[in-house]
Amino acid sequence: MSASAPPSVDLQGRASRDTLGWLDKLRRDAPWWVYPVTVVVALGLFSLYAAWTSIIAHPSSYGPYLSPFYSPQIWVTGPVSPAIWVVWAPLIFRASCYYYRKSYHRAFFWDPPACARPEVRKGKYSGETRFPFVLSNLHRFTMYITTVVLAFLWYDVARALIYNGHWYLGLGTGIMLVNVILLTGYTSGCHSLRHLVGGGLDCYSCSAYRRARKKTWNVMTWFNLRHSVWAWASMISVVAVDVYIRLLMSGLPDPHILLG
Ligand code: FES
Repeated sequence: MSASAPPSVDLQGRASRDTLGWLDKLRRDAPWWVYPVTVVVALGLFSLYAAWTSIIAHPSSYGPYLSPFYSPQIWVTGPVSPAIWVVWAPLIFRASCYYYRKSYHRAFFWDPPACARPEVRKGKYSGETRFPFVLSNLHRFTMYITTVVLAFLWYDVARALIYNGHWYLGLGTGIMLVNVILLTGYTSGCHSLRHLVGGGLDCYSCSAYRRARKKTWNVMTWFNLRHSVWAWASMISVVAVDVYIRLLMSGLPDPHILLG
């Protein structure tokens, strides 16, 4: 079986039953415009928050915690926000994600606004050959960088667990851990990464290496079929970590246990 082939009917069906059951029902029962309006509000708020916390606000870190918008810390003494040097890659990665593309083309450009709705835009469709949509082709390149950033976010969680020579189990550590798990699930379902792992092969069973790739591809397919869920959950968790750290910076106590 080729990696570029669509997932089997069985996998597709299982995905909709397992994860999208009630969501699917809600989507089918709700008026068609609810989904695009929800996407406009959610993506609009996320974009505004990301711009504010990365460019305008004070760098977001507190005690053992570092905001995902500011990690890894590449250059912290320069004239611009330290987030600028790193946050562009995950943001372009997310903005060029195949799932988000579908969402914002429907929600912001009404192109078309939903399934079984007529096209609203009458202009010539130029796909992703012109600016700014040609930037979507950066997805596979930002995927490499974002994977490295994700490794640093795991390192941040590990580092937050040991603070001033003690084991530090704080509420913030838990929120950061949930965030990296969700980001890992989101990245693991990336279409580009999945193709990198299992694509371009004519035969999956011809060697141990190819069989290992097939097994990894199967796992990634599970995440891929639920990509939209991981996309929304991880977007919310990234903001949640940053908001929590900013609350700590403003004086909120961090419930924690010190060991050792
Ligand atoms: S397709 Fe969504 S992250 Fe790559």
